[in-house]
Amino acid sequence: MANRTPLMAGNWKMNLDHIEAIATVQKLAWTLTDAKHDFEDAEAVVLVPFTDLRSVQTLVDGDKLGVKYGAQDVSKHKSGAYTGEISVSMLAKLGVAYCAVGHSERREYHGETDALVNDKVRALAAEGITAIVCVGEPLEIRKAGNHVPFTVDSLKGSLANLSPAELAHVVVAYEPVWAIGTGEVATPEDAQEVIGAIREALAKMYGPEVAATTRVLYGGSVKSSNVAEIMAKPDIDGALVGGASLDPQEFAKIVRFKDHIV
Ligand code: PGA
Repeated sequence: MANRTPLMAGNWKMNLDHIEAIATVQKLAWTLTDAKHDFEDAEAVVLVPFTDLRSVQTLVDGDKLGVKYGAQDVSKHKSGAYTGEISVSMLAKLGVAYCAVGHSERREYHGETDALVNDKVRALAAEGITAIVCVGEPLEIRKAGNHVPFTVDSLKGSLANLSPAELAHVVVAYEPVWAIGTGEVATPEDAQEVIGAIREALAKMYGPEVAATTRVLYGGSVKSSNVAEIMAKPDIDGALVGGASLDPQEFAKIVRFKDHIV
């Protein structure tokens, strides 16, 4: 993990309305406060549906909570005739710190490509919002043994031509598609293999210093019971957590992964 601050990001997906969001974030913050959690030790972030953002902002600002919040997607366009889309500046106005980009569900159900992901990352960086850029292979690619080149190619496309200043607003998340929502967690060795290759690719693209400061997360069926062994791997800096982030007590345990190191 070197000097990189661990980051635990809960991807709520299309779950929890704004009323439920308030209760969930309150419970998460209280649980972490009770445990005397130091947010410098591990950042806690919730990526909520767009309709929850204003309520979560009011709560986090009003009660000065250490929890950060973000969105799950954004438009690449600044403004205009894009019915149903949300712009980066709209997110910035709501104090959003992070935004997931290119999640496999966006890639699969909405046809998002690496080129589109690249445009979105650039748009976010321009407003100082950190993109959590998701990459990862489907099952057939893993079975064919091509998971490392596939994922590294997708990374290169997603980050193409970003300046080091833009890359400073990027967190990478390796999410093997076959491990998402399936209960089938990649072994810590599987995750380290690909995440190590991601860091090597970053070093080739931006030099070793930038690669050493860029955070790379693992995602796919992370729970409090498996997070510590995943976090024990040298290149893994945190987790993107779906299902288990909907339960604030369980997610708080994930944020406090250092408690379970035996
Ligand atoms: P999961 O989802 O933790 O429910 O597997 C991870 C994700 O899709 O980000």
